[in-house]
Amino acid sequence: MALAEQAKRVAAEFEFDADGVNKAVKEFMREMDEGLQREGTELSQIPTYVTAVPNGTEKGLYMSVDLGGTNFRVCSVRLHGNTTFSLTQSKVAIPRELMVAKTSKELFSFLAKQIEAFLKTHHEDHYAGHLRRRQTGDAIKEEEIFSLGFTFSFPVNQVGINKGMLMRWTKGFDIPDAVGKDVCALLQAEIDALHLPVRVAALVNDTVGTLMARSYQSPGKTGTLLGAIFGTGTNGAYVEKLNKVAKLIKNKDAGAYDKSTGEMVVNTEWGSFDNSLRTLPNTSYDIELDAKSVNPGIQMFEKRVSGMFLGEILRLALVTLLEDPNVPLFRDENSGTNDIHSTTQIHEGSPLFRQWGIDTSFLSICASDNSPGYKQIRQTLDRDYMISAVSAEDAEAVKEIAGAIAKRAARLSAVAIAAIVIDSGRLEKTPGAAATTEKKADVNPPRGDVESSGRGDVAEEDVIDIGADGSLVEFYPNFEDYIREALREIPEIGEAGEKRVRIGIAKDGSGVGAALIALVAGRVVDDAA
Ligand code: BGC
Repeated sequence: MALAEQAKRVAAEFEFDADGVNKAVKEFMREMDEGLQREGTELSQIPTYVTAVPNGTEKGLYMSVDLGGTNFRVCSVRLHGNTTFSLTQSKVAIPRELMVAKTSKELFSFLAKQIEAFLKTHHEDHYAGHLRRRQTGDAIKEEEIFSLGFTFSFPVNQVGINKGMLMRWTKGFDIPDAVGKDVCALLQAEIDALHLPVRVAALVNDTVGTLMARSYQSPGKTGTLLGAIFGTGTNGAYVEKLNKVAKLIKNKDAGAYDKSTGEMVVNTEWGSFDNSLRTLPNTSYDIELDAKSVNPGIQMFEKRVSGMFLGEILRLALVTLLEDPNVPLFRDENSGTNDIHSTTQIHEGSPLFRQWGIDTSFLSICASDNSPGYKQIRQTLDRDYMISAVSAEDAEAVKEIAGAIAKRAARLSAVAIAAIVIDSGRLEKTPGAAATTEKKADVNPPRGDVESSGRGDVAEEDVIDIGADGSLVEFYPNFEDYIREALREIPEIGEAGEKRVRIGIAKDGSGVGAALIALVAGRVVDDAA
């Protein structure tokens, strides 16, 4: 069989048709409901204790930190009270060895040191004043202490606005002694060890931060329904009716929360949707990836959707092809020239033969390169993957398979979005009554935000607003188009419903979102006092 046909055969293994999408939507909705009833379900449906979205008038200087997956970010955010803000931030890559450190102390003390460095650089006065008062024994003023929103993007069993126990690590992190511990307390202990003027005021999942930030900034009067991340990992948090969060209402040990809004943001932890594979597609590559991961059997949806995994799925598919002597992939006879210098060669040490060796950004490169001969794909294979003198046929085969993997990921993403949109009941709202959440009138989206909705003929009050962030939605060329195509294939949504869905890319929204939650958390404390 010619290489092109072999590639088509592998690509076809990643097809996820309309029937598959619709079955998965039904299962997602079933698991949403189940997760609201009790603990220990596939969709964790974690109550976040966040009961309102911001109204744009919030003011003040707050801090936030974000431990997400690849990077650790420290931000200070000045909210101007008119829906705008200014943000100062620093970002460091998390050293790989800390992701699998022996003790959680190693990771958390590293985080506290980054906060210290940030304060010294960007808030020198604040920091020095605090230090002086400590040394002279003068009273520390409460208003000098920064309230910090801690974005911690892993599943946490939240029991209060700034308290939550780590349920499990994801995205390649594995520090067993942290599981079951309150991650806010772990961070506060290291902050205190450095005598920093910082109080961890709120614990925030990145999806919740994205939802809050998007709602602060989004155009129109309709509150945002969903904050979604399609990055290293994937997850979503949405606004749920409080009376449906049965397990919280029943829980005698639940922390305090404001009941007056009748709503609560729920963190679905959809990365673990359908771990038992009732409806998720499953290829031999998915099976192999899972078996060799640090958490076999869990985050099964995430392992098919998010950036941490898509490159690895491609790698496994390519290696399987290479192992077949009948498949002419990366073979001389394909190089299309008789020049001996252009013999295709996979060099020793090529990342192709190393677990996680292919980065998901390569899938974006494959999708964007439509040049004759696929120059960019071939160059990247040469430069980053040590596979030299690749033929156009080889590049085309790689492109075909990579495209199919990404398309499946986008169609799976549509499953989660669709289930939440349908479940919210917002599709049934008559024109003019779509908003369930009070929202400010004046808005001013910050520069750099991109947004798209279905077409422009949708009345503002009928828009179903979604905030999204993460490298896949941001950089993969057709990700949103594929999502929209799948949404139209779901009868409850169809063409009309798909047009009402507006997806706004809230880049780095979680930094602002966490600061907003720290502010709201402070207000709850102030109000109670
Ligand atoms: C985590 C979520 C997080 C998502 C996106 C997942 O692996 O479990 O808590 O929101 O990644 O960062």
